[in-house]
Amino acid sequence: DWTAEHIVEELIADVRAKVGTGKVLLGISGGVDSSTLALLLAKAVGEQLTAVFIDHGLLRLGEREQVEQALRPLGVNLVVVDASNEFLGALDGVSDPEEKRKIIGREFIRAFEREAREYGPFEFLAQGTLYPDVIESAGGEGAANIKSHHNVGGLPEDLAFKLVEPFRTLFKDEVREIARLLGLPDHIRLRHPFPGPGLAIRIIGAITREKINILQRVDDIFISGLREYDLYNQTAQALAVLTPIQSVGVMGDERTYSYTVALRAVTSADFMTAEWAFLPYEFLATISNRIVNHVHEINRVVYDITSKPPATIEWE
Ligand code: XMP
Repeated sequence: DWTAEHIVEELIADVRAKVGTGKVLLGISGGVDSSTLALLLAKAVGEQLTAVFIDHGLLRLGEREQVEQALRPLGVNLVVVDASNEFLGALDGVSDPEEKRKIIGREFIRAFEREAREYGPFEFLAQGTLYPDVIESAGGEGAANIKSHHNVGGLPEDLAFKLVEPFRTLFKDEVREIARLLGLPDHIRLRHPFPGPGLAIRIIGAITREKINILQRVDDIFISGLREYDLYNQTAQALAVLTPIQSVGVMGDERTYSYTVALRAVTSADFMTAEWAFLPYEFLATISNRIVNHVHEINRVVYDITSKPPATIEWE
């Protein structure tokens, strides 16, 4: 029967048997799957693991530090790469959502490749593939995959790794149990999903450093507010979108012409469909006040009341 302790022991033994004395490379996204995998592999093969976290400059406020603080003390050999100049340079002036995804996917591979050469050679590449991912890709390119999702699939021939995928038979809940056992902080363990392209697909239109900075501050107010009001775990995902709409407002005696931010929170079982979350009005009022008081570039806050379908969870 299934106990997390038992599974962890088995997974560690399997990894050791497969990997031997070989070096293992793992890409860290900051999400629960790759973070848990990092902890498992660190336990199984220690310094043979190199975990690479690429900061594309489109992360949430403090996210990089959170990942570092969660993984390093638990023995993960973690390399953090600030690649924001390259990513943001490549994204300069790009407003098409799929184009953004393509560029980010390409830059991820480029940065990852560079680190693989720097710290390698690696015999193995570890991935946090879950059972539902295995099922989904067995079904081919489903019509459900409306937005192109990128993972590290397009590496060149000379970086031909053997794959290590210890979670291939597991569901998300099981990974979360393993994460608890391995000491992953709840902050990451119970985190909402965050898309690979990050804030790039939450800034409608072209991305600038200023817009990233605005959105990071808004997002931080919204997400920490949800945690503060015990609403975070009642929603499947919550996000803020920086729209390109500027509208007229008033501050003191001054007329303003500033950006509109949209907040979105959903409940969902599988993210294929989702309902907009009925967040309490008092909560929304508090968050709206905090945003306009602290983020002066914003003079209007709206709440997205559309379910999926027909809307998607992200706006891009
Ligand atoms: P949508 O917007 O399609 O999102 O309803 C469904 C789930 O997928 C996430 N998402 C992405 N994740 N790369 C990712 O890694 C992407 O390009 C991407 N686009 C959407 C989204 O956050 C939601 O959880």
